[in-house]
Amino acid sequence: MKKKLTLLLSILMLFSLTSCGNSNAENSSPKQTAATANDKNTSVASSATSSTNSGKKILIAYFSNTGNTQKAANQIHELVGGDIVEIKTEIPYPTDYNKCADLTKQEKESNTRPKLSTKVEAMDSYDVVFVGYPIWWYTAPMAIHSFLESYDLSGKTVIPFCTSGGSDISVSMDAINSLCPNSTVLQGLTANNLNDIKPWLTKLGLL
Ligand SMILES: Cc1cc2nc3c(=O)[nH]c(=O)nc-3n(C[C@H](O)[C@H](O)[C@H](O)COP(=O)(O)O)c2cc1C
Repeated sequence: MKKKLTLLLSILMLFSLTSCGNSNAENSSPKQTAATANDKNTSVASSATSSTNSGKKILIAYFSNTGNTQKAANQIHELVGGDIVEIKTEIPYPTDYNKCADLTKQEKESNTRPKLSTKVEAMDSYDVVFVGYPIWWYTAPMAIHSFLESYDLSGKTVIPFCTSGGSDISVSMDAINSLCPNSTVLQGLTANNLNDIKPWLTKLGLL
């Protein structure tokens, strides 16, 4: 009887040791690490340590006048983590379509560089920079020109995304490529449907 009891206790101990071992293994698995990193990344305060599963540091920079591109940017941020920053101009654009159309047409024709109030201090530290914008006049807004010309993005991966009233992101790619001559510019997304974002990020190997 005593022998049987000892044997039973030994088996129970063996089980409990095995299950401890499993939970430690889970904690160090990539999945667990990624979840922890994402939790940190949702707050700007912990942004200095934000990175992807592959250890790359991500910035999501976006310009949005009426909120559509912002929604896409937030969705990307939720999925890949990293830091997120809104590109703002010193003088905000009118939200009235006609007023905005007149002003931005003029800006485009005169190749203006609107002054930005946004400054990314630690741009050097990022490996991957998402750049989001609405399509304006069949290209990226001039604020995006100002933004991309403000930094040395050499060696970084730049990932464009946009929203639009129907134009495809390809209409803006000549501008983005020439503004980022020494970067690796990946396949951009016209993110008018937020459901397209996850498959796109998966295809790019970021999820
Ligand atoms: C001045 C202006 C120009 C636009 N030009 C285009 C265009 O050339 N092609 C297009 O499909 N949509 C165009 N749109 C529509 C915007 O791209 C679309 O509404 C976008 O989702 C707005 O993004 P936001 O809410 O982030 O500002 C234009 C909108 C404005 C205000």
